[in-house]
Amino acid sequence: MGTINLFPFSLVLHITGVALLTAGVLGSYVTLKQLWKYYPEDARQAAAVFKTSQAYNVFFAIGGALILVSGFLLLRVYQFTITKQLWFEVKMGLVIFLILNARIFGGPVVKKLQGLLSGQSGVADVLQLGMLRRRLSIFHVLQLLALLIIFVLAVYKFQ
Ligand code: HEM
Repeated sequence: MGTINLFPFSLVLHITGVALLTAGVLGSYVTLKQLWKYYPEDARQAAAVFKTSQAYNVFFAIGGALILVSGFLLLRVYQFTITKQLWFEVKMGLVIFLILNARIFGGPVVKKLQGLLSGQSGVADVLQLGMLRRRLSIFHVLQLLALLIIFVLAVYKFQ
């Protein structure tokens, strides 16, 4: 049996991770958008849609783990020389942005929505609901935009 060529192997893992992560962001974006067709009039249906949107979290987890492991393997192939290139530094900045945006901005909004759907956070007025909806949209659009810029940087590798 021949030895595994680390570069194509890691790249396949990396692209698979990227595809899963992007699918997760798009999936939760589309399903959470559907939720507003039902909420607040039909809270039961909205709660079912919310549950579906949360099923996409497994894509983030698997995609994120694959990206990190394969990213480090790819860096090893390049003996970490890439880390000094500008495009890679910007890319890493955007990766950190993706994580912080999810933790600081997206997470609390989703938690608030979950609280409303379960009745634990009382009832929100139209203004609060509008704000929640807008924040969720901004969160997802920012994630997708950051991913798109990462794709462009990874392909063009501006120096
Ligand atoms: C959401 C996060 C990320 C996305 C969307 C992403 C996306 C990509 C894409 C599209 C490529 C180009 C593949 C190709 O050449 O066909 C790539 C390559 C690469 N990525 Fe990532 N990546 C991410 C995170 C990371 C992380 C965290 C690391 C390092 C720890 C990393 C290290 C690398 C390396 C070393 C390459 C190879 C560069 C080359 O093509 O010559 N990436 N990435």
